[in-house]
Amino acid sequence: MNIYKPELVKIVDIVLETPDIKTFKLKFKDDSLGKNFSFRARQFAEYSVFGEGECTFCIASSPTRQEFLECSFKIAGKVTNALKKLNVGDTIGLRGPYGNYFPLEEMKGKNIVFIAGGIGLAPVRCIIWNVLDLRDQFKDITIIYGARTVADLVYKNELDEWKSMSSVKTILTVDPGGENPDWKGEIGFVPAVVEKAAPNSENTMAIICGPPVMIKYTFPVMMKLGFNEEDIITTLENRMKCGLGKCGRCNIGNVYVCKDGPVFTYKQLKEMPDEF
Ligand code: FES
Repeated sequence: MNIYKPELVKIVDIVLETPDIKTFKLKFKDDSLGKNFSFRARQFAEYSVFGEGECTFCIASSPTRQEFLECSFKIAGKVTNALKKLNVGDTIGLRGPYGNYFPLEEMKGKNIVFIAGGIGLAPVRCIIWNVLDLRDQFKDITIIYGARTVADLVYKNELDEWKSMSSVKTILTVDPGGENPDWKGEIGFVPAVVEKAAPNSENTMAIICGPPVMIKYTFPVMMKLGFNEEDIITTLENRMKCGLGKCGRCNIGNVYVCKDGPVFTYKQLKEMPDEF
């Protein structure tokens, strides 16, 4: 068996999230593969454009929604530029799922705080919908999401949906200067907005994903709010290529992000060489 062989998936919908981020909705060409494909929130896949190469993104849709898979990508290099040019009906390759996942079982019965910045909302969105689809198994849910500007916020329809839900507290923010005249959310960097919102740390787990600088400055805020290091969960995306622990591109010290991660607790990160 060739472990690098991708399966074929068809693009069934494309959303232009921001000027440089797109979301693809994908369906397996072989229905039986689609039905048997199972993954957990925050696992990732390798997506290939034939003749161009592969790139790594998380699966951005929830495992509770089986009809299709979604991935969101920032247009930043050769493969993502090739992906950008594809249309509905085109076929790409997909292999996976790979990596570990968010500890959903451990999160049950607890308050959950989701904190994300920019396209870092993609893996968090996956676990948000996973949790919302099992809403009665969790206590209070808070979502804090920020982007550089209003135009850079991703999944805008879903942000409105979360805001309209009485069972979820959703706080949106943009960096100073990134607001427009219609903006009704917060203005400020994510760590400052988290500090101001001051979510209760008692019986609470936090999921954090975003640019390294955002994560770096959010950790001390979480400690100040009284969170345990083991209850702060984040994800890394280190130059992954093979996704299988073979190419040696993703390692930090002895840790392979693709196999041992990409999900790590803050406690685990502190024991690794500094990534931020
Ligand atoms: S991506 Fe190849 S070893 Fe991790």
